[in-house]
Amino acid sequence: MKIVITGATGHIGSALIHQFAFDFPGAEIVLLDNMKTQRYCSLFNLPRTAQYSFVEIDVCTSDLSKFFNGADTVVHLAALTDAANSFENADLVKKNNLEATSRVAKACIESQSQMILLSSTSVYGTSSTTVSEDCLITDLNPQSPYAETKLKEENLVETMVRSHGLRAVICRFGTIVGTSPGMRFHTAVNKFCWQAALGLPITVWTTAYDQKRPYLDLRDATRALSFLINKQSSAGLIYNILSSNSTVCEITEIIRKFIPDIEINFIDNMIMNQLSYEVSNKRFSDLGFSFSDGLDTRIGETINLLKDARSFICL
Ligand SMILES: NC(=O)c1ccc[n+]([C@@H]2O[C@H](COP(=O)([O-])OP(=O)(O)OC[C@H]3O[C@@H](n4cnc5c(N)ncnc54)[C@H](O)[C@@H]3O)[C@@H](O)[C@H]2O)c1
Repeated sequence: MKIVITGATGHIGSALIHQFAFDFPGAEIVLLDNMKTQRYCSLFNLPRTAQYSFVEIDVCTSDLSKFFNGADTVVHLAALTDAANSFENADLVKKNNLEATSRVAKACIESQSQMILLSSTSVYGTSSTTVSEDCLITDLNPQSPYAETKLKEENLVETMVRSHGLRAVICRFGTIVGTSPGMRFHTAVNKFCWQAALGLPITVWTTAYDQKRPYLDLRDATRALSFLINKQSSAGLIYNILSSNSTVCEITEIIRKFIPDIEINFIDNMIMNQLSYEVSNKRFSDLGFSFSDGLDTRIGETINLLKDARSFICL
């Protein structure tokens, strides 16, 4: 088996490359990344049960055919991912992410590989009811240039499935919770854990405290991707992949179990000035996938990594 992962050294990719060595022993795993985020540490201590090759390339400019040739699956993770900063970098985010997805999809058509596109539940944006994949188009209200681009990437892939026989599946991931060798701290829960571990107040957007949002245990995320490879799902269907819908209040209460003296500071920020939204994972669960039953373990694991931070990080 041959699997290609774009954006392989990022937060999700760096956990996935370990999971694939476990789930697909002996597989050839090709890791592509432009290393703009410099996460070389993601390549340390890789398991010996898979045959890895790493190539530093930009998927927007390099010829992908030689890497995709013979691949069963391409997991496309490469993207600029900082949603909050995407307001300032809107053009860059759109150009990089849309171009990357377009070129990866075309190369998958040529190599006849299954393409797994990583999208995000942030394409829903605002909703007063629980939303599912077959919601009305008016229920898709992305709230940032990052999320708008994700929706465009989905549309592009769906069009290529219909017009060019692309074998693809689209995963709308909830916000990842959990640790990885190439972990990043832009996203809500990781940022809260970092602040709590350092003894800093947790900064919470005022309007978001009691809002439910979808979160995804990183172990569920990597297992879900192996599951889709095993199923060879490729009919262009969209799946919401999330472990739970939780409020920020619920997340901070889990953090409090590990660090009892946390403080919360409320701030205003335009990206979160929106309604709550809950997302259904029923379509994916109905395929036979079981999600973990909470985020406590992953939050505990994150705090455990940082547990001594207060003693050596100078603020
Ligand atoms: N982490 C989350 O909470 C989350 C939630 C939903 C969806 N996603 C999606 O999952 C995917 C992976 O997310 P992540 O958290 O691992 O992000 P990340 O930012 O940690 O990793 C992305 C990687 O892609 C690489 N990259 C970016 N543009 C590239 C290009 N043109 N060519 C080659 N490499 C490039 C970066 O160097 C980086 O290593 C993204 O598409 C993201 O939108 C992530």
